[in-house]
Amino acid sequence: MKTYLVTGAAGFIGANFVKYIIRKHQNDVKIIILDVLTYAGNLMTIKEELEMDNITFIKGDIGNRTLVDSILEKYDIDYIVNFAAESHVDRSITNPRLFLETNILGTHTLLDAARCNWLTGKGTDGKPSYKPGKKYLQISTDEVYGSLSKDFDKPEPLHITDDIKSVIKGRDKLQTFGENFFTESTPLSPRSPYSASKTSADLIVEAYYETYNFPINITRCSNNYGPYHFPEKLIPLIIKNILEGKKLPVYGKGENVRDWLYVEDHAKAIDMVLDNGRLGEVYNVGGFNEESNINIVKLVIDTIAQIMREEPKYQSQLKNITLENIDYNLIEFVSDRPGHDMRYAIDPSKIARELGWYPETTFKEGIKKTIYWYLDNQWWVDSVTTGEYQKYYNQMYDNR
Ligand SMILES: NC(=O)c1ccc[n+]([C@@H]2O[C@H](COP(=O)([O-])OP(=O)(O)OC[C@H]3O[C@@H](n4cnc5c(N)ncnc54)[C@H](O)[C@@H]3O)[C@@H](O)[C@H]2O)c1
Repeated sequence: MKTYLVTGAAGFIGANFVKYIIRKHQNDVKIIILDVLTYAGNLMTIKEELEMDNITFIKGDIGNRTLVDSILEKYDIDYIVNFAAESHVDRSITNPRLFLETNILGTHTLLDAARCNWLTGKGTDGKPSYKPGKKYLQISTDEVYGSLSKDFDKPEPLHITDDIKSVIKGRDKLQTFGENFFTESTPLSPRSPYSASKTSADLIVEAYYETYNFPINITRCSNNYGPYHFPEKLIPLIIKNILEGKKLPVYGKGENVRDWLYVEDHAKAIDMVLDNGRLGEVYNVGGFNEESNINIVKLVIDTIAQIMREEPKYQSQLKNITLENIDYNLIEFVSDRPGHDMRYAIDPSKIARELGWYPETTFKEGIKKTIYWYLDNQWWVDSVTTGEYQKYYNQMYDNR
């Protein structure tokens, strides 16, 4: 039975990863969650999991060395999966320092504590050796590669090579806005304080492999979407604003392109890298699913309107707006984010080739599932936006 230390698991992807692992391994796994509960961390997201005997929640900072040491002392951790981060680019523009502290120094604290705890001595090759089966996995992002050019105004059909075939598994009508894709050997070229902090963290993680022979992997994923996404990010924000009859803010002209991946497919990739990733390697994770922001917004508008027409019960969720007014007139173009990267597109053929990973959820299915989830779980959105979950935390953990 493996024991995981999952940091930042009260946030979007970490929580979805914990749910995935529990579904897959049931009781045959032990998970320690370490999360400081920033505005983005929400215990309501992992309410059911917190009641399980094999899950332990610890409120704390990955940058607190004494705390991290004590966790490693107490639990025999096999895998550390570091999701904990400040993750919102806009916030990094207003407060870069916090990003450097959490994303770089926090990562280093975790990494170094694990290096000391897992060290056993020296191998026959003279390099440091560690307790067997241990691994540190850094959850990184495609944003470390900077921005790709958008070569076509209108998407063109994706040229399907043999490598791509194994990733897309029969999906058709795939499109791209450019000639180039990020591979693991693309030079790192971050352009926002957020991506610069994530890049620095990746470099220190790689340095620990090279210098100390410390067992690591790094995954770099494209934009995730799905349940439990904090409503400051594009897709949940658009859903929330439509339901509240508010304008839908779109940066610039909405031309920026992202590669979208359903969060469960990211969780599957992480699980595969933990179990079978070659030590020291970086794996890109993405779905060959490029779309411009403006088209994403239009798709969400169309899908919500269609669901409301077909299932009128959901119309009761509309505030200050009626079904007839759910249309593109809600879109409001706002001045662009400074240094806004134009296009991200991942080539995930290495993880497909080496580990057999491919995304199982098509974008059409994933976006529908996501919208239904938000329609059926408005209590969650209310809880994260009103701070209701803070009360839940106090109820659960005060006086313990
Ligand atoms: N969301 C995406 O599309 C995406 C894509 C690629 C990579 N990533 C990376 O995946 C990771 C998770 O992203 P997310 O979208 O789930 O983020 P999120 O903002 O939803 O969650 C981050 C979590 O980390 C916790 N946290 C923050 N600072 C902490 C600290 N000092 N100590 C302990 N916990 C702390 C927060 O409370 C929160 O629960 C991040 O490292 C991010 O860079 C995200």
